[in-house]
Amino acid sequence: MSVVLKLAIVLFIALPGVTSIYKYAYNAGSDDENNDGVPDSLDLNRDGKLDHPGCPHNKAAPVLNPALLQTRDEPYRDLANTSASLLQGNLGIRPLLILNQYDVQYEAFVHQIRTYGDRPFDYLTNEVQGQRGFFNLPFGQTWKSYRQIIMRYYSNNVIRQPIGFEQSIKAELDYLRGILKTGAKLDISQVLARPLLRNFFFMIFGTSFTDFTDDIDKKIIPLFVTSLTLRPKVIDADWEPKKRETEPVKLYIENTKKILSVLKTMIQAHFMKKPNGIGNALADKLRKNIQQRLEAKGEDTCTFDELTAVIWDLLQLTVPGIIRNLNWYFLYMLNYPAVQSKVQSEIDQYLKGRAANGQDQLNHILPYTEGSILEVLRISPHTAIKRRTNAPSCLHGYNIPSNITVVPNLWKVSNDPHLWEKPEEYRPERFQDGIRFGTPAAFVPFSIGLRRCPGEAVAKMWMFLYVTPLLQEFKFIPEAIDGSPPPLESLPRRLFDLITPVPYKLIAQMR
Ligand code: HEM
Repeated sequence: MSVVLKLAIVLFIALPGVTSIYKYAYNAGSDDENNDGVPDSLDLNRDGKLDHPGCPHNKAAPVLNPALLQTRDEPYRDLANTSASLLQGNLGIRPLLILNQYDVQYEAFVHQIRTYGDRPFDYLTNEVQGQRGFFNLPFGQTWKSYRQIIMRYYSNNVIRQPIGFEQSIKAELDYLRGILKTGAKLDISQVLARPLLRNFFFMIFGTSFTDFTDDIDKKIIPLFVTSLTLRPKVIDADWEPKKRETEPVKLYIENTKKILSVLKTMIQAHFMKKPNGIGNALADKLRKNIQQRLEAKGEDTCTFDELTAVIWDLLQLTVPGIIRNLNWYFLYMLNYPAVQSKVQSEIDQYLKGRAANGQDQLNHILPYTEGSILEVLRISPHTAIKRRTNAPSCLHGYNIPSNITVVPNLWKVSNDPHLWEKPEEYRPERFQDGIRFGTPAAFVPFSIGLRRCPGEAVAKMWMFLYVTPLLQEFKFIPEAIDGSPPPLESLPRRLFDLITPVPYKLIAQMR
């Protein structure tokens, strides 16, 4: 009997409350029959489908100890140490609700999505792009129409027909190979911005992205890298107003406005060539949607500011996450050389020297390699999600007020010993049981419910298409002369920041 099966039986007998999460696997909620992350119907006046039992205790959620939020280490780990399933308190000027348990997150983000599906106001976003964009849209018709376009585009052009996307990655792999072959000590996160930004713009503009390589390399990349560096220093300006007058915040706002201005120029140039926006790239599809919506309202259809804000949102949600996860990935490879060798053996055995493609990932040809990527996502879920309640509600028997910022503790779910066997161990094999490959419901780095990450499939394929060829060709070793690996430590982070490794360097050797 496989270890996974034995574990499932033990959990089933010993922990009925915990095993119940497995029945939720891959379920985005009953409004999404296709399970594609887009609600099939969206009647905003209808209540959630759960017959919720009311609030028997008629009481407020347990009070959050504010000291936990002041930690500059790993706030989600500290919060995970508290036993409460949900906690309510204040983060500076923002009232906050922490969802500290999977069942509660499921109740909020799946059963009560209409109340828990909005995003809160964000000071920095508002300063830079006002109410425009996609990420902060309320859970309503405009959000739904954008999300449908984005998900259909990813599904048709990146996942089912990944050929163009693969070509874009192959070109950038050549660039990376050139750098890695020098054998220099390298901070991998520093060299990933160009490849990933170029891949991103391929998704936005299709093959005509090459018209903008100069803009990308000379303008967007330096501005973007500055923005990534400044982000941890400015993130608390949202809930600590006194921070708003500081230099880094002013610089961040100015820098981001410059990015938006370059982006807008690129977008305008793209549409100079096809004035009606009837191409097949994501930019064309988004523009058509905006035009139709504004026309229906009888408004001015000059749409470039809105389109720029949507594309900036997509850029922010896409590239930094992939850079950080690849950065973590190589740090794990340095710390687990046996895993690295096993990944390489699997690649050698099944690819027999040929290049990996998107289909290999969809067919799970390399389950251990894929597991090595997913395990990094599980052990260090990098994202910090913000949602907002738009009405008073009853959650887990507690009264929750309207207009409160809601934060699911994904770190806790990903590292909960009731849900994962020895969660502190990095074990790529935990996603396969010898026959099948898959992720359990407690795999939540992309969140859950109808507003979960729509880029999950793209993100997994994207990382696979970088990791596989690089490990096929190179062995990655620590820079230290005695071969000791850099520590598996993250930089201190504030709530809502991404989790980043302490900077390290590696050396790539040709295999
Ligand atoms: C490893 C990489 C990534 C991780 C861990 C990740 C995770 C997440 C998470 C946790 C959210 C918040 C969901 C929620 O509120 O419940 C999110 C939102 C989002 N992500 Fe990702 N993401 C990744 C990469 C990507 C990629 C590659 C794309 C696009 C190709 C993408 C597009 C988006 C978008 C558009 C949203 C906003 C969804 C909405 O508000 O409807 N993400 N992501």
